[in-house]
Amino acid sequence: MKDIVPPPPPIVRNDAAAVQALFQQNVIPSYGRFDLVLIHGSGSYVYDVAGQRYLDLGGGIAVTALGHAHPAITEALVEQSRKLVHVSNFYYHEQQGRLAQALVGLLGPGKCFFCNSGGEANEGLFKLARKFGHDEGRFEILTTFNSFHGRTLAGIAATGQEKIKKGFGPSVPGFRHAPYNDLAAMRALISPATVAILVEGIQGEGGVTPAEPDYLLGLRQLCDEHNLMLFMDGVQDGHFRTGRFQSFQRILEDEAQASRPASSGSIRAFDNSEQATASNAQSWSSALRAGFLPDGISLAKSLGGGFPIGAFWVRAPYADLLGAGSHGTTYGGSPLACAVALKVLEVIRRERLADNARQVGEFLKQGLQRLAQKYAGIISNVRGLGLMLGMELAPNLPGLPGDPAKSQAVRFANLLHAAGLLAIPAGTQILRFLPALNLREADAKEGLEILESVVARLATGAGNS
Ligand SMILES: Cc1ncc(COP(=O)(O)O)c(C=O)c1O
Repeated sequence: MKDIVPPPPPIVRNDAAAVQALFQQNVIPSYGRFDLVLIHGSGSYVYDVAGQRYLDLGGGIAVTALGHAHPAITEALVEQSRKLVHVSNFYYHEQQGRLAQALVGLLGPGKCFFCNSGGEANEGLFKLARKFGHDEGRFEILTTFNSFHGRTLAGIAATGQEKIKKGFGPSVPGFRHAPYNDLAAMRALISPATVAILVEGIQGEGGVTPAEPDYLLGLRQLCDEHNLMLFMDGVQDGHFRTGRFQSFQRILEDEAQASRPASSGSIRAFDNSEQATASNAQSWSSALRAGFLPDGISLAKSLGGGFPIGAFWVRAPYADLLGAGSHGTTYGGSPLACAVALKVLEVIRRERLADNARQVGEFLKQGLQRLAQKYAGIISNVRGLGLMLGMELAPNLPGLPGDPAKSQAVRFANLLHAAGLLAIPAGTQILRFLPALNLREADAKEGLEILESVVARLATGAGNS
């Protein structure tokens, strides 16, 4: 492994200004970037060109599932690139078939299509829905306010946030939005043209808001009653981030736990270990009786651990709707991308990273909640599941330094950066923590300490110092 992963290059000079100048002259300025120039990473840490170390609790927006420079990813890249990088989808190759088999095994009977990003995965679901409803003239897809489904034209039409759509009209027709977690509102939106409903299990960009179990179960029922497809966007909250493969599995697991008889003690629902008892089996079946499974799920981000790959899974009855010639992409599911995604899955399984996400996520969440109690004037709310957590800032924080034209979330993120911590803003008030699934408890502890140092300074009115 030492041969494959070279040590990081020594810092020769701080050329941040030169790198930024290259961007200013040559890169389309469509992103508001932070003032950091990163050069290498290892595990949950990244380093800038000046040698400053940062604890990365943003995970490249829920992407670097195994952290930075994981030797297994390097090995998969090197091994596969020595054999076959790309062949196009005119031909078969083993890696795509094996990855599809693994995902079907994790989700249920159905089939997968591979692409390169989350936006593209959702586009595939939109086309699937239109194909499904085409002969009946149904085409409309219902989504939720505050959702986020990507930056393509249909993606921004599907996204329930005006700021994402602004300036890009006319909008792709056939998308309407209902408030999230409001089943009655969704029911009221259904028209004769409706063909599908699309929701995130946990709204990510919208501020880390989990779906209520009853909402998910109700949506399934609604779709069954009206012959609609139910789609879930698992791009950000999926791939074991919540402690289960998909967030709906985790959300409904908690539901099963809640409905368990009080006498059943501390045995976890879905515990399929040898110690599982009859009451646990009852919890299992209560969730299974709910029979929840969407008809389509979009996947990306952590699927490739940093290598670009997206996918969508389609439930069995609909899995052959997109026939030969109906959909495609040149790079989708290349041998290289699939080999890396298979390796990421292998490491997640071998190192029990779903359990780690659940446990370290809980540790981090409890720590954040303690901070929210202690500094109620600064942190107004903490929410999320596993390693998808959101921390909401109180409105109008006095003494928060930085350009007042920028959101509180961005200005707070800047303070965190200066203290050596990366977190991702969501909306104007929320900081998201979406770290590597192998984040150690010690890393989470360090993150909480850094966070507290920043919050404590703000609380004493010394944020500007
Ligand atoms: C829930 C959700 N869906 C879709 C997307 C779009 O994915 P991508 O940026 O890979 O196109 C994102 C990206 O943040 C997302 O969070």
